[in-house]
Amino acid sequence: MYMPSSFSLPSASHLFKLSVLALLFTTNPFHSSSDSNQELSSSRQPWTYDREHAFITPSLNDSRSPCPALNTLANHGYINRSGKEISASSLVSALTSIYRLSTPLAELLVVGGIGCCGNKFERWLSLDALAAHDKIEHDASLVHDNTPLGAKFAPVNVNWTLVDNLISTYPDGLSITDLAEARVKRESMLRDESRPQLDLVHGEISHGEAALTWLLMKDAKDVVSTETVQQWFGRETFPDSYVIPDDEVTLGKAKKISTKIGDTMTKLKRAFNEL
Ligand SMILES: *[C@@H]1O[C@H](CO)[C@@H](O)[C@H](O)[C@H]1NC(C)=O
Ligand SMILES: *[C@@H]1O[C@H](CO)[C@@H](O)[C@H](O)[C@H]1NC(C)=O
Ligand SMILES: *[C@@H]1O[C@H](CO)[C@@H](O)[C@H](O)[C@H]1NC(C)=O
Repeated sequence: MYMPSSFSLPSASHLFKLSVLALLFTTNPFHSSSDSNQELSSSRQPWTYDREHAFITPSLNDSRSPCPALNTLANHGYINRSGKEISASSLVSALTSIYRLSTPLAELLVVGGIGCCGNKFERWLSLDALAAHDKIEHDASLVHDNTPLGAKFAPVNVNWTLVDNLISTYPDGLSITDLAEARVKRESMLRDESRPQLDLVHGEISHGEAALTWLLMKDAKDVVSTETVQQWFGRETFPDSYVIPDDEVTLGKAKKISTKIGDTMTKLKRAFNEL
């Protein structure tokens, strides 16, 4: 398997951004011994029935990341609730079974995450290591504060003011274009705060994350609903509307949507600069 050793090359940027996202998602495979006898909803929302996978708020000692997808998996016990030393296989199996990432996409993200922030020899990752600033983590997150200047780790706590702003700005949910616009606004706040802009790689990662958010969480109207923003970004639990999808999220789909968001952001930035 390809083991990235450096993410500094632009050509590795796709890997990098996808890796970030992969880290967000981990669960154990369909544990569905009796799925065939159960209601559709129980097999597609197993966490609503299975006490073992109920939402539990993390304790102070539990390790959490800046990534809502991975934290949600830990809060529901699809990866160890401690968030510590999570094996690559556990991450891949949670990402593929609960978020339905294709195996190549899940492996890419997990390999990238462990390569960046985990134990490369024993192949595990503790979620808090993903907060290492400017490795995968980056400023201008949609719902997290920027890393204090000079600090090595980003805050992993959600900023509810940012969550509420997102909900009030996009009361009908976020389309692909809205996600691009929300990212452009957050990035423009960096300049207002005299912080460095995102570099090429972290720019790619950030719209890759937005693409995965949309692919994983879009509803029938192709928007990420306010409920999803509140529950998944905010509380880090599965939104009421989320069911394990039938169709896999493949590397090809992720690239396509990521490119679309990136192109939209470029257009929006140009338009803002012409104002
Ligand atoms: C957290 O960890 C510390 C030291 O490892 C331990 O003393 C403490 O009891 C733990 N707290 C909880 C709530 O588990
Ligand atoms: C989860 O991790 C904790 C500590 O990191 C460990 O003691 C426990 O056995 C793990 N649980 C499972 C089910 O592997
Ligand atoms: C949360 O974000 C808002 C808006 O950027 C900011 O004014 C506020 O200071 C942040 N809150 C905390 C606790 O950092």
